Amino acid sequence: MSTLQDKIKEYRQLFTDLASKVKEAKEAEELRQLFLGRKKGHLTLLFEELKNLPLEEKKAAGKALNEFKEEIQKLMTELEQKCQTRKPERLIDDLTQPGRKLYWGSPHPITLFQREIERIFISMGFSVEEGPEIETDYYNFEALNFPPHHPARDSWDTLYINDKLLLRTHTSPVQIRVMEKKKPPIRIIIPGKVFRRETPDPTHLPMFYQVEGLVVDKGITFAHLKGTLEYFIKALFGEKIKLRFRPSFFPFTEPSAEVDIECIVCHGQDPHCRVCGGSGWKEILGAGMVDPQVFKNVNIDPEKYSGWAFGLGIDRMAMFAFQIPEIRYFYENDLRFLRQFNRK
Ligand code: PHE
Repeated sequence: MSTLQDKIKEYRQLFTDLASKVKEAKEAEELRQLFLGRKKGHLTLLFEELKNLPLEEKKAAGKALNEFKEEIQKLMTELEQKCQTRKPERLIDDLTQPGRKLYWGSPHPITLFQREIERIFISMGFSVEEGPEIETDYYNFEALNFPPHHPARDSWDTLYINDKLLLRTHTSPVQIRVMEKKKPPIRIIIPGKVFRRETPDPTHLPMFYQVEGLVVDKGITFAHLKGTLEYFIKALFGEKIKLRFRPSFFPFTEPSAEVDIECIVCHGQDPHCRVCGGSGWKEILGAGMVDPQVFKNVNIDPEKYSGWAFGLGIDRMAMFAFQIPEIRYFYENDLRFLRQFNRK
């Protein structure tokens, strides 16, 4: 009967033979199991044999076995590392392989859409203004011709910081701030965040984005408003898009209108359209001629000057343009959603 020492020798030879044939990680794993497997590995079985040896042989045999185990463990680790690095080596060898694409961050879809809107208005000679997100009751309501306790305030209800300070419900207060400082001619747009008392659902959130527009000069008419908005919408959605003006009400414009654009998904052909609900139209903004009372509040003479304003929701328009069914997607920061807008 061969001694344990002899067996170690045989197994060492076996290991060397088998290891020389290993090429892949899977084969290395098989070899590891064969020798170091917890139940039936060769080494485990050798340690079992050790138990039955007479005491005087045990010591030397145990030492040899332990050394053999360490040796196999070391060789296995080296072998496994070799198998892991082999793949990339092969890739680098192939110089015809295309480079791997790195992901670079990109602007948020709302930012992209806002920039596009700004670009179109800047090309028409407008400049971009900003205002505070925390507003006074005066700028958000009173100066815009909403008297205290007027029921029109209900549609613009918001979060109050105290009796006088609130989170602005629209970008319209910046109209007042600009007209207090600048004399006509005025031609501006005002992008920014706005806040309302809303329960989140697929088309509403308590915070969203708007772009306001304001033009004030001598001889400005509703025709200028229509022409400018038509140019803007066509620049954004293409020459063929149709738009319509519907009469509406805002305390700070007179007359007032809401503007709808033709549904770009079904063109009015699908009575069950997900986007327009079958009406063929989608409301995108509110607009109108600046109310004379608003001019009086900022010391501009309504007999001498006239003007128009509009306000549109960026999120809403972006949802429509990109056919996104859920406003909340914009704010969940899910990279699978955001990466679709990476233009690089
Ligand atoms: N501020 C209005 C809103 O938030 C939109 C609007 C702006 C309407 C300017 C008319 C003129 O609903």
